[in-house]
Amino acid sequence: MNNYIESLNWRYATKKYDASKKVSDKDLETLKDAVRLSVSSVGLQPYKVFIIGDTDIRKQLIEAAGGNNKNIIADSSYLFVFANEVNPGDTEVENYVKNIGETRGIEPENLKGFSDYISGFLKGLTPEQKNAWTIKQTYIALSTLVNSAAVLKIDTTAMEGFNAEEFNKILGFDKLGLNAAVIAAIGYRHEEDANQHLKKVRKPKEELFVTI
Ligand SMILES: Cc1cc2nc3c(=O)[nH]c(=O)nc-3n(C[C@H](O)[C@H](O)[C@H](O)COP(=O)(O)O)c2cc1C
Repeated sequence: MNNYIESLNWRYATKKYDASKKVSDKDLETLKDAVRLSVSSVGLQPYKVFIIGDTDIRKQLIEAAGGNNKNIIADSSYLFVFANEVNPGDTEVENYVKNIGETRGIEPENLKGFSDYISGFLKGLTPEQKNAWTIKQTYIALSTLVNSAAVLKIDTTAMEGFNAEEFNKILGFDKLGLNAAVIAAIGYRHEEDANQHLKKVRKPKEELFVTI
């Protein structure tokens, strides 16, 4: 656990990447394993994660990012785009329950109660509430990425500073029922990034936690 806390202290929101250093395929697979294992409400994972390499698409996305986020994306190894499902319904629930049945060897009739529960929960939400709920789930996956990368000594920058509508257009998300909720660059810090030397600013434990 000490090592984990050390990793969390080591990481920081990287502002300048060293474009000459690239995250290896092996480490990228490990990060995908970690994000895949991320928790989500009822286990539905109502999102997809797009990993953008050094492509023309990345150049277009840079244009749709704000301020210094453009440089961050340009010099990082990969850009993760966490895209929430805007309007999950019966099809997504069926696919999920099918996966549970196949993975755990459970007959569909024994999963009907769970399936009905999730469908009922989703039907009880307005479209806005559903979108907000699936966006929340992407942030948990984002956190898994950021903290897992720190363990591998890979730098990250979580970012909300981008034009989601433009991202949706460039990545064709509208047709896929997806929405760019939050993004994260991964790569290696540049030695000139002064932010790596800043002390962590966090609320003191006495203020943050209430143990009752
Ligand atoms: C959801 C989210 C969105 C963020 N958006 C941006 C961003 O657009 N650009 C940026 O440079 N940093 C962004 N940050 C980084 C935060 O400012 C940073 O994590 C916070 O100040 C704490 O500092 P630390 O990560 O260095 O410990 C974001 C962080 C989170 C979690």
